[in-house]
Amino acid sequence: MLTRFLEDLNVVGRHDPAAKNRFETLLCHSPLHAILLYRVAHALHTKLGLSLPARLISMLARFLTGVEIHPAAKVGRRFFIDHGTGVVIGETTEIGDDCVLFHNVTLGGTGHHRGKRHPTLGDDVLIGTSATLLGPITVGSHTKVGANSFIRMHDVPPNCTAVGAPAAIVKRDGRRVDEPLSPTRLSDRSIPVAAAGEATGEKA
Ligand SMILES: CC(C)(COP(=O)(O)OP(=O)(O)OC[C@H]1O[C@@H](n2cnc3c(N)ncnc32)[C@H](O)[C@@H]1OP(=O)(O)O)[C@@H](O)C(=O)NCCC(=O)NCCS
Repeated sequence: MLTRFLEDLNVVGRHDPAAKNRFETLLCHSPLHAILLYRVAHALHTKLGLSLPARLISMLARFLTGVEIHPAAKVGRRFFIDHGTGVVIGETTEIGDDCVLFHNVTLGGTGHHRGKRHPTLGDDVLIGTSATLLGPITVGSHTKVGANSFIRMHDVPPNCTAVGAPAAIVKRDGRRVDEPLSPTRLSDRSIPVAAAGEATGEKA
C-alpha cells in the first residue's frame, strides 16, 4: 500500500504545475488526502470486510476534502484529482491506471440499475470539470471527456475526445470527427430495475 501512496503522491507533481515539492503536496493537496483515505477505506472494505469503518473513513474524507469515493469503488494506480471539491465516485465504479478527474465530476448511477450501475474507465482517461457520467457505461483507454459534458447510458470508445451535453465524439485516433456515442450494452453484472417504482434499497 505504501508503494501506491507514493505513486499517488508523485503523480501530483506530474499533473499540477502548482505543486512545488512533495512535502507541500502531502500537506496541502486535499484531493490527494481524499485518495489516500480512499486507499485505506478500500483495503478495510475489500481485504478485511470492515465496511462500516470503511464508510466512516469515506465520510470523513468527504467532510475534509469534498471528494466522495465509495470504499468499494475500484481505482487504479497513479490516480489524480485536480481541485477535488464535488467529485462523486459511486460504489461500482471502476477506474483504470493513470486517470485524471477534475472537480465536480460525477461517476454515478441512473437509479434504473442494480448491481454494476456506475461507469468503468479504462487507463489514461481524463474527465474534465463538471462532467457527469451516469450508468454502467464504459470509457475506453486514452480518451478525454470535455468539461461540462453529459453522458448517460452511452459508451465512449478508446483514443477519443468526447464533448458536449449530450456528448459526441469530436476526435478519434487523432482525427477530427463528428460521431454520436453508441448506447451502452449492459453486462451481466448490470440488472435493470424492471418494474417502475421497484424499491432497490441501493443508492444511485
Ligand atoms: C475537451 C478537452 C478534453 C480537449 O482537450 P485537448 O487536449 O485539446 O484534446 P484533443 O487534442 O484530443 O482534442 C481537441 C480537439 O477537440 C476540439 N474540441 C474541444 N472541445 C470541443 C467542443 N466543445 N466542441 C467541438 N470541438 C471541440 C478542439 O477544437 C480540438 O480540435 P483540433 O485538434 O482540430 O483543433 C479539453 O478542452 C477539456 O475540456 N479539458 C478539461 C480540462 C478541465 O476541466 N480543466 C479544469 C481546470 S480548473
